[in-house]
Amino acid sequence: MRTAWWKESVVYQIYPRSFADSNGDGIGDLRGIIGKLDYLKELGVDVIWLSPVYQSPNDDNGYDISDYQAIMAEFGTMADFDELLAAMHACGLRLVMDLVVNHSSDEHPWFVESRSSKESPYRDYYIWRSGKGGREPNNWGSFFSGSAWQYDETTGEYFLHLFSKKQPDLNWEHPTLRAEIYTMMRWWLDKGIDGFRMDVINLISKAPGLPDGPVANEAPYQSPGASVFHGPRLLEFLGEMKREVLDRYDVLTVGETPGATTAHGVDITNEAHGSLNMVFQFEHVDLDAEPGSALGKWAVRPLDLGDLKRSMSRWQHDLHGRGWNSLYLSNHDQPRPVSRFGDDGRYRVESAKMLGTFLHMLQGTPYIYQGEELGMTNVRFPSIDDYNDLETLNAYREMTERYGMSHEDAMARIYVKGRDNARTPMQWDASPNAGFTSGTPWLKLNPNYPQVNAAQAMADPDSVFHYYRRLIQLRKAHPVIVHGDYAPLLEAHPQIYAYLRTLGDTRLLVITNFSADRPAFALPPTISFERAAPLIGNYPVDEAEEIRLLTLRPYEARVYLLH
Ligand code: NOJ
Repeated sequence: MRTAWWKESVVYQIYPRSFADSNGDGIGDLRGIIGKLDYLKELGVDVIWLSPVYQSPNDDNGYDISDYQAIMAEFGTMADFDELLAAMHACGLRLVMDLVVNHSSDEHPWFVESRSSKESPYRDYYIWRSGKGGREPNNWGSFFSGSAWQYDETTGEYFLHLFSKKQPDLNWEHPTLRAEIYTMMRWWLDKGIDGFRMDVINLISKAPGLPDGPVANEAPYQSPGASVFHGPRLLEFLGEMKREVLDRYDVLTVGETPGATTAHGVDITNEAHGSLNMVFQFEHVDLDAEPGSALGKWAVRPLDLGDLKRSMSRWQHDLHGRGWNSLYLSNHDQPRPVSRFGDDGRYRVESAKMLGTFLHMLQGTPYIYQGEELGMTNVRFPSIDDYNDLETLNAYREMTERYGMSHEDAMARIYVKGRDNARTPMQWDASPNAGFTSGTPWLKLNPNYPQVNAAQAMADPDSVFHYYRRLIQLRKAHPVIVHGDYAPLLEAHPQIYAYLRTLGDTRLLVITNFSADRPAFALPPTISFERAAPLIGNYPVDEAEEIRLLTLRPYEARVYLLH
């Protein structure tokens, strides 16, 4: 069965600032990436997604773009970019770029013009409103704390920024703005890039009239989600983008869509009427926060495996044959999965492999975030001054000042959820600064790099790296992994997540233990087979072992083909 290449691919995300520094300024760069293509080839991934490399004042590390057609000076030049793209294509890797068009930087010339006067032809490229009763135009909060509105003295109006005040929201209601974005997208695609990851793309159509959103808690500004996620014109805008741009190229497109339901996922990714190949949904990464809390994602609670199963199973089931899933546990906004869902101490290696197995055997396109393939872990810097991420710094201020939390309490939440967990530099080897830079790194390294690093992992056949390599190869060898349907098993078991994938008469049995205990696994008697052939696992297994009743080891994962 032949199909779209992006269904059969494994994507690797690079956060360029933290990947590899070639010139000793402490900041990763494009030439650093060129130097690591052999590593990526050895891992066996097919596609590289680069977090933004465009010109940016770096209020949000590149997610605030001041020129969509220029490269950030710290990362190199357009010539470096062209060389990187050519080098990737020469070795069979595809390149997907980040597209950040819900907002720009406030230093983008469009915004500089827009804020200069109400009469500017660029005024309506952004969302301006007058205040209400001496206050902001509505109760929307920014995802990065505080109001989503900023008063601007030049014209006496407020502009909308769902993220930082240096990230004003673009006004997608304005046709000229949309046309400019499509022209810019075609310019990159004509250069030969292989697709886009679209930042918070389901936020581009806001509720008409920008009304107050529902009040869920006592906070002065409320989450704007209900008023901005999947708004009334979203599908129309995406459809236009598809006609004007995407249909003309053979590309991978993935929309980042916080708050998306499976129905939204189908609307956006259905091959007949959707516009994008897949979405990054957020349900599974929101499960370890108390819903509706004023503290948002910082209201941490333990993950209930039952919640994870129900959520993943719903996405697997609802999109099968109707759309396409992305599969991820990790990215530059999320804590390290081995610390979050596994055990980053005694069972670091076992649990990192178990999580990889759980994810890579599902239906969808898997994404690996840099360092995940090494089992990199969260960090715990004692001082808030060692953190860089503006979301984290704003949240620390809010937690300690508004909510009166102690330093320790606020830091405990940051250790669990902060975005810098994922952004500490890539750990290449045991030399100073992990071989990331010869200078002073822009963000401190995780002090465990002498033990956890790529050189060690590549030399150890039992490492997480080599296990991921095998997971990637299995997807290429067994169509059931790409195309098979999905049925959960032992749905009520509190520690074991098991499922069956079926394609014709090929059946794949996946068994994962999400705990440090030794739970018993009993195969449902309705599943009959003559022989179970082990495909991969994170402990040695006896090929002749009867698998109807097993005692699993801590964080054990096993995959079998049933004949
Ligand atoms: C989602 C990105 O992944 C995140 O890093 C960024 O801060 C926001 N969108 C705003 O662009």
